[in-house]
Amino acid sequence: MKNLLIISSTKNTNLDLSYEIKKYLDNFSDGEISVLSLEEYDLPLYTPTLEEKFKQNNSFPDTIERVKKILINSRAIIWCSPEYNGGISPIVTNTIAWISRATEDWREAFKDKKILICSSSGGNGKNFIKGFRIQLDYLGSNVSEDYIIRTKKNGGDKDNFEQILTKFYEQLNN
Ligand SMILES: Cc1cc2nc3c(=O)[nH]c(=O)nc-3n(C[C@H](O)[C@H](O)[C@H](O)COP(=O)(O)O)c2cc1C
Repeated sequence: MKNLLIISSTKNTNLDLSYEIKKYLDNFSDGEISVLSLEEYDLPLYTPTLEEKFKQNNSFPDTIERVKKILINSRAIIWCSPEYNGGISPIVTNTIAWISRATEDWREAFKDKKILICSSSGGNGKNFIKGFRIQLDYLGSNVSEDYIIRTKKNGGDKDNFEQILTKFYEQLNN
């Protein structure tokens, strides 16, 4: 299995969760597992006007191109993200908007890709999981039925965490 990408949408507990996942999967990995911390890229806010400006200059900013390349080159994704206001956080929506506009086929970075959704959220994060699954389905991804949720109250069930990751990882080799 090559190029498993773990995305952390935010920099605190979701980034911690991302590295915890990497640490666990590194134990039996035969390929490259990397963590992409989206906040580090500080992408501009998507607006059609700004996109038009970039197109007139015949180029998107380097940060968008870099995130695009990383996403396209990944074979599978584990995406860790908080729930915001019962839904998807703006950094995720913004990233997907840019990537869908910076690729020739708007679904290129997501289509047919196996994705596991994870969340470290204040509450139970289930609305985010539900909403993000709908969006990723629309983008053609193959979203796992399983998910990992961390909350302030619940530090997470270790056995469940390991079982879900092992199952997801093993499916990638099929
Ligand atoms: C604008 C905003 C809205 C939020 N809405 C929710 C929510 O609807 N449900 C929830 O469980 N947590 C909500 N939270 C809490 C975040 O999910 C929580 O702080 C999470 O740990 C943030 O991830 P991070 O630690 O990686 O930054 C919200 C936080 C912010 C800033």
